[in-house]
Amino acid sequence: MRHEVNVDLGDRSYRIHIDSGNLDLTGELCKSAGLKGNCLVVTDENVAPLYAECVFQSLEKAGFKPALEVLPAGEPAKCQAQLMNLYSKAAAHGLDRRCFMVALGGGVIGDLTGFAAASWLRGIRFVQVPTTLLAMVDSSVGGKTGINISEGKNLVGAFHQPELVLMELDTLKTLPPRELAAGMAEVVKYGIIRDAELFQSLENSVASSSPRLQTSEETGRIIARCCEIKAEVVRQDEREGGLRGILNFGHTLAHAIENAAGYGQYLHGEAVSIGMVYAARLSVALKGLSVHESIRIEKLLAGLLLPVGAPNLAWREIRTAMAVDKKTVGGLTKFVLADRIGHVDFGCEVPEKLLEEVWVGMAPERNQQNH
Ligand code: NAD
Ligand code: GLY
Repeated sequence: MRHEVNVDLGDRSYRIHIDSGNLDLTGELCKSAGLKGNCLVVTDENVAPLYAECVFQSLEKAGFKPALEVLPAGEPAKCQAQLMNLYSKAAAHGLDRRCFMVALGGGVIGDLTGFAAASWLRGIRFVQVPTTLLAMVDSSVGGKTGINISEGKNLVGAFHQPELVLMELDTLKTLPPRELAAGMAEVVKYGIIRDAELFQSLENSVASSSPRLQTSEETGRIIARCCEIKAEVVRQDEREGGLRGILNFGHTLAHAIENAAGYGQYLHGEAVSIGMVYAARLSVALKGLSVHESIRIEKLLAGLLLPVGAPNLAWREIRTAMAVDKKTVGGLTKFVLADRIGHVDFGCEVPEKLLEEVWVGMAPERNQQNH
């Protein structure tokens, strides 16, 4: 079943289209969104052989002049060198201010291309065509774009909303199971921050069968629900003055793990899974989340085949990486914590000692050795 979600941001509003068969409509939907001129389609080496031709042809058929840029797959591509490469390709293809870029791929391609579009000629338009579950439920919506630098993840970027987001559910059929599981971590996040019913339905589906999404109908419904939640939060707080911080539940530790382990070692969703277990345990200590609910969170993530224990990294390294998180203000790292499944608060302070205790508690033997 077809779903459409509006991201209501005044003159920066746009529509999210969720369906099977959408890729063939790329050109038409770009035209309906008022896009014109040349475009640069950016994708990666895994996605290109599967979906680039279809998107390319659809754009050509609708009268656009596309050029294709295929980047290496994976997190290390979200870097300064690839950003410079995209500027060169934009120049070579004559992308002027009327033109646009198309991000065809996962969150890496979306974040990088979005930032290239935000900064090329001080900002041109762009379209998100997410092909991973994680990108569908999270990174393609809301306008956060950026790259990693050695000092930290996503430290350089811009808010730049797409003109439209086009989700082709059939692309999930080729997604490796590990990537699908990583996307499910962000789905669980929406349950914890805003929708206890969604959380419960995920528990039921894990209990009843395989953790993979069952049918494209169910997949579409879940993705649409996540997009609705994100769209509503972003509508209220586009530039993360406060409320939007709730979308970062579990992310403070996750970004530190990704940085300390080296980008690409842990998939973003895997790091978020560990981060959510950590945040749930902090929440038990500080916000009155029941131990029962914290265990439910852990069990659901484990049931989705996601990691839930602390990795083999020294606390000192993790703590240093946490300090450069964007949510650190004046040296104080703030957390999103839950008082129950379905409701969280942002901007929570956590005593230094507890930060370490909870980390050590997630892998007692190994972390005591590292300490
Ligand atoms: P990714 O872009 O690296 O994609 C994961 C892997 O799947 C890649 O190897 C890719 O080539 C492959 N792939 C993509 N689509 C495929 C398909 N349909 N079939 C087969 N293979 C496919 O990773 P991701 O998990 O999509 O995104 C992670 C990134 O998103 C991180 O950099 C993270 O920081 C960012 N992120 C951004 C936001 C935001 O709001 N901007 C939110 C969450 C995450
Ligand atoms: N993924 C967090 C946000 O978009 O704010």
